[in-house]
Amino acid sequence: MVENYLAQLEMPAEPELLYTPISYSMQGGGKRLRPVLLMLSYGLFAEDYQRALPAAAAIEVFHNFTLLHDDIMDNALLRRGKPSVFAKWGKNVAILSGDAMMIEAYQLLGRTQTEDLRSILTVFSETAMEVCEGQQYDMDFETKQKVSVVEYMRMIELKTSVLLAGAVVIGAMLGGASKEDCKALRRFAIELGLAFQLQDDLLDSYGDERLGKAIGGDILEGKKTYLMITAMSRANEEQREVLRSTHLDARLSRAEKIARVKAVYDELDIPHLTEVQIAIRFECALSQLDNLQADPARVEPLREYAKSLMGRNK
Ligand code: IPE
Ligand code: IPE
Ligand code: MG
Ligand code: MG
Ligand code: MG
Repeated sequence: MVENYLAQLEMPAEPELLYTPISYSMQGGGKRLRPVLLMLSYGLFAEDYQRALPAAAAIEVFHNFTLLHDDIMDNALLRRGKPSVFAKWGKNVAILSGDAMMIEAYQLLGRTQTEDLRSILTVFSETAMEVCEGQQYDMDFETKQKVSVVEYMRMIELKTSVLLAGAVVIGAMLGGASKEDCKALRRFAIELGLAFQLQDDLLDSYGDERLGKAIGGDILEGKKTYLMITAMSRANEEQREVLRSTHLDARLSRAEKIARVKAVYDELDIPHLTEVQIAIRFECALSQLDNLQADPARVEPLREYAKSLMGRNK
């Protein structure tokens, strides 16, 4: 339903360089995680799924907007196995098409049939602002020498978890959920988002071409990922120097830089430690679903969907 709804959204033909990148991004084959979460959350409390579609589409368009700008900020040339909008059309196009997508997201949200659009808009806008905060911390941390795990967790909660939380809370609100259920669903999505971003960090260094992004991008950009922070805290002086300076070393090729940092990660058992943390966060997310007042049979599809994200490779 989400895919069909998104496919029938039409973009004006001109200006071509404003709208073509939007269609390119929206038809780029994302997982549709956030709109699916919104629909499953709505489905805990209501049945007329059509009513939730504009909000689901709004969340997905907003997510895709963040990716256009994120790829500029991260110097990322590959997205979903194809050139990123920034790589294909340049920064200026990615900035403005991204802006237009954020506006489009609000237009879609405004189409929601509900008596309480104001509350839904408030949740959406708070969420959107927090994503910006998270993205700025992510950038700040690139040049910050010491970042703690606590600071990292707060950063990924903002840049990634809150949008998953916004999706499930808006779905639940539209469905007529109680305040208590909205809160439990929010906690579920926050933890799920942490697991999801930890996994994204792991895949960025240890995934393969199925990920559709250039492997090693985080290492080359000097990102303070969970892998990097955990490695720093366990490294000896020599390893710490490799972790600190490799990405800045102009004598090394990209492949050499990635290989050097990953060799230290491997020595320190970092992939395994990250997987442990991912599993803890997933379990914590799933346990939140036990607190819902909703019919247990209706919770099952949401639980199954969340489980299907564990061990993902794209
Ligand atoms: C990528 O999100 C950005 C992160 C928050 C890690 P997704 O992995 O959901 O991207 P698509 O939409 O499926 O490509
Ligand atoms: C992105 O985190 C989060 C947002 C887009 C808000 P990343 O920078 O790790 O996402 P990818 O890996 O490029 O998809
Ligand atoms: Mg990125
Ligand atoms: Mg980023
Ligand atoms: Mg990433």
